[in-house]
Amino acid sequence: MLRPAAAADLPRLTALAGDPGVAGALSTDAAGQLAVTDDGEAGELLVIEHRGIVVGGVRWVRVNRRSRIADVRTLMLEPAVRGRGLATAAVRELASRLVEQRGMHRIEAEVYGFNAPAQRVFERAGFVREGVRRRAYDRAGEWQDGIRFGLLADELTR
Ligand SMILES: CC(C)(COP(=O)(O)OP(=O)(O)OC[C@H]1O[C@@H](n2cnc3c(N)ncnc32)[C@H](O)[C@@H]1OP(=O)(O)O)[C@@H](O)C(=O)NCCC(=O)NCCS
Repeated sequence: MLRPAAAADLPRLTALAGDPGVAGALSTDAAGQLAVTDDGEAGELLVIEHRGIVVGGVRWVRVNRRSRIADVRTLMLEPAVRGRGLATAAVRELASRLVEQRGMHRIEAEVYGFNAPAQRVFERAGFVREGVRRRAYDRAGEWQDGIRFGLLADELTR
């Protein structure tokens, strides 16, 4: 269901990241951060497929090499396929890949306080809500909390 993005996927993923229903839930620089990398050492952009069709994307970034920490970023699904558990399945699959193939010890994510569906997705995928960065982000002139999520390698549910 997840596969590394190819250059041909970039226009579609960039358009999705810029969609008004998606852009407001992502960090302000998300669309500009989408890139295809060669070796996946520092991070990777992946596409989410459903029945062979690209329906979204997600990327991860290695944020601490020594302590083997990866950050999940830019999770996004086409509006037409939401509400079926595809995002939760994608986050679960990504967490397994990061632990089993990349040897990560810890996986992190941060979600805006107003983004209830995304918070639910990380909780359903087994992440622990670890704290709130209060009024951390200025979005369109309003301060928004950042909710921190974390998952340890030995907390992976199979
Ligand atoms: C976040 C996103 C990927 C989730 O996709 P999705 O298809 O709705 O995800 P899922 O179906 O796997 O799960 C959504 C969960 O949120 C719940 N949910 C949906 N809307 C909700 C709301 N307004 N309040 C609370 N929970 C809500 C659903 O019931 C579901 O929970 P459940 O599994 O217990 O029933 C999708 O909404 C999206 O692309 N949003 C725009 C970009 C974004 O917010 N990205 C996250 C950045 S951190």
